[in-house]
Amino acid sequence: MIIPVILSGGSGTRLWPLSRAMYPKQLLSLAGNGTMLQETVARTTTIPDIGPVFCVCNEEHRFLVAEQLRQVTPNIGGIILEPVGRNTAPAVAVAAMQVREQFPDATMLILPADHVIRNPDAFAQAVQQGARAAEQGALVTFGVVPDAPETGYGYIRAGKPGTANLPQGISPVAEFVEKPDRATAEQYLEAGTYYWNSGMFLFRADRYLEELQEFNPAMLDAARQAIDKAARDLDFLRLDKDTFEACPADSIDYAVMEKTTRAAVVPMDAGWNDVGAWSALWGVESRNDEGNVMKGDIITRDVHNSYLHSTSRLVAAVGLENCVVVETSDAVLVADKDRVQDVKSIVEELKTTG
Ligand code: GDD
Ligand code: MG
Repeated sequence: MIIPVILSGGSGTRLWPLSRAMYPKQLLSLAGNGTMLQETVARTTTIPDIGPVFCVCNEEHRFLVAEQLRQVTPNIGGIILEPVGRNTAPAVAVAAMQVREQFPDATMLILPADHVIRNPDAFAQAVQQGARAAEQGALVTFGVVPDAPETGYGYIRAGKPGTANLPQGISPVAEFVEKPDRATAEQYLEAGTYYWNSGMFLFRADRYLEELQEFNPAMLDAARQAIDKAARDLDFLRLDKDTFEACPADSIDYAVMEKTTRAAVVPMDAGWNDVGAWSALWGVESRNDEGNVMKGDIITRDVHNSYLHSTSRLVAAVGLENCVVVETSDAVLVADKDRVQDVKSIVEELKTTG
């Protein structure tokens, strides 16, 4: 059985002002019908032998997450609540412990809650392709062909397909490099032999825990204590605050994937996009003849290649090119579309100045 485990702990600061601490981007309907969390669940439903959904999220979001999950599936395995974020490696560890307890032989499909996948069939197919390798003990990644030297992604160099006892079409990972610097990313792109790591993984719960035992036993130990002392309340499992706070923080990519010798990669061409910033949303949504994405009450004259989103007031724009305008009731963002990564620093400044 394949158990979807959805990671919903991020804050999505670069999508401010729509994405807020209390209402992060994965809980918003930004592209597609449902919220990003709901779309993540929806795209797993066609995978054969799929089991109940688990979700790991911040305690503060529990009601929103539970409500959104219930709207799209009757089959919720559990919602694990983190008192604080300790990044993805501990989040996956606590999920693995829960999953293994209920489904000892299960494979976990780790899914970030904030990605857009335009071709869910191709995604489901890639998962099925990786399933047997995962059952046999591989840590399966899904590789996306890169088209820019992005420094926010992991890079995977694939070995020869079908070697290392892997089924045909699946390659061992020869090298996994998380978030290389710009010059290195440019080299990888040039080399043409690297994939981007999509951030989704498929592996047996017990296999992940064994790897963590080897590479970071202190993290495994803290995660186990947080589970042992956790409080259960309906679908929620509330991790013990003190022990989870004391857990070392790291991402699954640095803590396990860069180090393991058992990683494998399935190529995936599914219209994947980690919608990290407004420019990415402009890229994935349908645009009008002027190249604009317009959401809400918008009126334009001579505006091109821009992303315009209003939630509470009429927004009128004249003579803009390559801009982002996002209006909410208490904040408005106006930015050059090529500078939207810097929204993050504005949010940081707002946090410190209140
Ligand atoms: N529950 C929980 N707790 N979820 C978390 C936490 C946490 O502490 N931290 C992050 N997440 C969730 C985020 O909401 C997101 O859905 C997912 O885990 C991945 O975390 P990101 O912080 O977005 O990772 P990233 O984008 O920098 O890098 C990862 O994804 C890239 C592709 O988008 C890596 O796997 C890269 O290698 C990969 O290329
Ligand atoms: Mg991400």
